[in-house]
Amino acid sequence: MPPRIRNRHGLNMPTLGLGTWPMTGDTCTRAVLQALELGYRHIDTAAGYANEDAVGQALADSPVPREDIHVTSKVWWDRLEPQAMRQSLDDSLRALRSDYLDLFMIHWPGNQGSLAGDDLRRSIDTLVAARDSGKARAIGVANFPLALLREVVEQRAAPLAAIQVEYHLLLDQQALLDYARAHDMALIAYTPLGRGRMLEEPVIRDIAARHQALPSQVALSWLLEQDAVAAIPKAASLANQQSNLDALRLRLDEQDRARIAALPKHLRLVSPDFAPRWD
Ligand SMILES: NC(=O)c1ccc[n+]([C@@H]2O[C@H](COP(=O)([O-])OP(=O)(O)OC[C@H]3O[C@@H](n4cnc5c(N)ncnc54)[C@H](OP(=O)(O)O)[C@@H]3O)[C@@H](O)[C@H]2O)c1
Repeated sequence: MPPRIRNRHGLNMPTLGLGTWPMTGDTCTRAVLQALELGYRHIDTAAGYANEDAVGQALADSPVPREDIHVTSKVWWDRLEPQAMRQSLDDSLRALRSDYLDLFMIHWPGNQGSLAGDDLRRSIDTLVAARDSGKARAIGVANFPLALLREVVEQRAAPLAAIQVEYHLLLDQQALLDYARAHDMALIAYTPLGRGRMLEEPVIRDIAARHQALPSQVALSWLLEQDAVAAIPKAASLANQQSNLDALRLRLDEQDRARIAALPKHLRLVSPDFAPRWD
């Protein structure tokens, strides 16, 4: 069983979760059911993935009680007006057949980071109200650059429990991570395997060979041994889901960490045209 991250903002979440994008329909339901059977207790979905219904089906079909599973969902950037956001959350809950989310996030800060001023205040107030109502046990944001995160936490005093961003051993996120830790927030690493890109990296392959492990397990272990960091690799197959869970048993050493620290860290794979200007 993965260790958990708990914080004063209401988070109680296993460090390793299952990413569900871009799975939909029966493929998604089967993958989530299989993951729950293997011992995953953290599922990442979003209104924007068009798979909450499929995830909800798996939650309903699984013998694992709902309260034992951490479910994250997110509201898309074109539904950040208060009424639209409330409706989006209700739609997510209906699709997931649940009366609460464990973590409710704003998926992107508007179109190209357009969420600002009064719109930002209203959206954050609505996010906080979702937590106060009990429909979300914790709240957070995804894809917020550091300056915007600071504004939300420091000027709006929003009790954010987590930020979700792209993070892996070929992308530096130290500034966000330091800030998250200083404010008792988790950093949830998406695209933690770099969609397979880093699995060909010779240094990672070499470290994996030394430990008789897989490159994917080196990538996950490096993330999961960091304080306040969770990771949500997407895996459809039984073999990949199991091997990602087994990464929790791999222990890197100082030499491995030094070699990983020396790798270039500018590989950003997720940057759609509506992304904000990154740090
Ligand atoms: N907040 C956001 O804006 C945002 C953006 C992107 C992603 N996400 C979340 O993060 C999750 C993961 O990110 P991602 O899907 O972009 O990338 P990822 O998890 O880095 O990579 C997924 C790919 O890696 C493969 N894989 C999984 N385990 C493997 C293993 N042990 N060995 C070899 N290959 C393996 C998967 O193949 P198989 O499926 O065939 O196993 C899939 O092709 C998404 O599903 C989503 O939930 C959030």
